[in-house]
Amino acid sequence: MTIAVFPGSFDPITLGHVDVAVRARTLFDRVVIAVAHNSSKSPLLDAETRVRLAAEATSHLDGIEVATTDGLLVDFCESIGATTIVKGLRGGADYDVERPMALMNRSITGIETIFLTGDNALSHIASSLVRDVARHGGDITSYVPPGVSTAVLDALEHRS
Ligand code: PNS
Repeated sequence: MTIAVFPGSFDPITLGHVDVAVRARTLFDRVVIAVAHNSSKSPLLDAETRVRLAAEATSHLDGIEVATTDGLLVDFCESIGATTIVKGLRGGADYDVERPMALMNRSITGIETIFLTGDNALSHIASSLVRDVARHGGDITSYVPPGVSTAVLDALEHRS
């Protein structure tokens, strides 16, 4: 059985993330979306909410699961027998951010990262932009799975 981990902050999960997970599933028997801690970010949504939203967004998809980890990503990969990390690339700027992480993860344990290009029609969608649009009163429902918009608006309301 081949297992891949698709890690990220998922703050919140978007249609772009779901697209990458589905593409990864065509290459691996199991794809585990890992809601992880990025020490350079302060998430809007708590980890529990991010996991719940990712699980709801993928519950209809066979072979795609959601987990959370607050330690080293490579340790999590090892703990579940994953051989590969999967990341989505929207463009060159993503590659510039992802390349050092891929090299570091390989340097620590030898685990490889593969990059998938998502649907071009979704390439403008980023969690940071989704949060910003919502923060300024815009409608984010066409960028995120059902239920995510409500959770983001709730979190924004509690934060203000
Ligand atoms: O969606 P993001 O914020 O770009 O995802 C980055 C993430 C969470 C995958 C990365 O920060 C991560 O792997 N965090 C877990 C801790 C870890 O392993 N850090 C070393 C990364 S080389």
